[in-house]
Amino acid sequence: MPHNPWQQRKIVIVGAGSVGATFAFALAQTGDFEEIVIVDSNQALSEGQVLDLAQGFCFMPTTKMRAGGIEDYADADVIVITAGSKQRPDESRLNLLKRNQKIMCSIADDIKSQDPKGVILVVSNPVDILTKVVLERTGLPANRVFGSGTVLDSARLRYYLADRMKVDIHNVHAYVLGEHGDSEFTAWSIASIGCIDIDQYSLTEPLTQAEKASITENVQRSAYKIIEAKGSTYFAIGMALVKIVSAIIKDKKSLLTVSRLITGQHGIDDVCISLPCIVSKDGAQLMPNIHLSTEEQQQLVESANILKEQYATLQV
Ligand code: NAD
Ligand code: LAC
Repeated sequence: MPHNPWQQRKIVIVGAGSVGATFAFALAQTGDFEEIVIVDSNQALSEGQVLDLAQGFCFMPTTKMRAGGIEDYADADVIVITAGSKQRPDESRLNLLKRNQKIMCSIADDIKSQDPKGVILVVSNPVDILTKVVLERTGLPANRVFGSGTVLDSARLRYYLADRMKVDIHNVHAYVLGEHGDSEFTAWSIASIGCIDIDQYSLTEPLTQAEKASITENVQRSAYKIIEAKGSTYFAIGMALVKIVSAIIKDKKSLLTVSRLITGQHGIDDVCISLPCIVSKDGAQLMPNIHLSTEEQQQLVESANILKEQYATLQV
């Protein structure tokens, strides 16, 4: 159903730290939501972030913004969870699991208690496993609970490829799939520049295998590099989240590599992991007919196995 122009679109951002606040800042510039509510266990922080953002209202499209509480989950169109610990330098995302599982269970229980009508987007790490935690705890349908997955990693890939291929980043169609983490991989077999297979693109030297490996490694190591330099990542993820929630609220049917529950496709089952999905007002739907190479298929299964093993260690 198209959006009723009289209806107020409402988003709740859980977590007022670097990611939550940067996302709120980027989102407020779009005017996509009439109401932005920020919830944090540190009430003073959420109130301070709101006041700082709200004092820029005269430079933005008209938006209401306030610090809120769990009662705001009920009628939100989208709930974005950015709460929890972040990595220390050189720490893997998977290492955050024990620290963030409890936080995620309590947020999921609060959400469930409010009988929410909207879509839930998980961002906190390790995002794939925590998405499954929220999905299981809330009992909501799989299309309505998904993670930001490798949307950020695919953006990083496009950044490196645009530079190497000397072409507009908007014409680079390339995807990082699997875990948002160390076992992710580039799906080179479906990468293209506009309508041209990336290996056939001839306005620059063809990419060698060594260059492909190095680009994938640069993508995988980006977060480690940024965290080493400045403590955390928040600008690119903030913008990636705007793209995802705009696809939901405007029913755009955007192709994005979000992390959602896979049930038997590509030889994997019962795991939340990133594959190309169509994102709309109904949430995330797996894109049919994606044909990966044999090697990529194997990388996907290996990545899924790592996530399943980690999930199995939890008492959810
Ligand atoms: P941060 O420390 O700046 O902020 C985290 C916030 O969560 C804090 O304000 C804290 O008070 C709040 N919080 C903790 N427990 C809470 C609870 N139960 N309810 C409400 N709020 C609670 O961290 P950050 O840099 O904003 O990162 C947040 C998370 O996002 C981390 O797990 C990080 O790894 C993840 N992250 C994910 C991606 C991605 O692509 N998926 C990208 C960047 C960061
Ligand atoms: C990222 C976070 C840390 O920037 O997951 O990739």
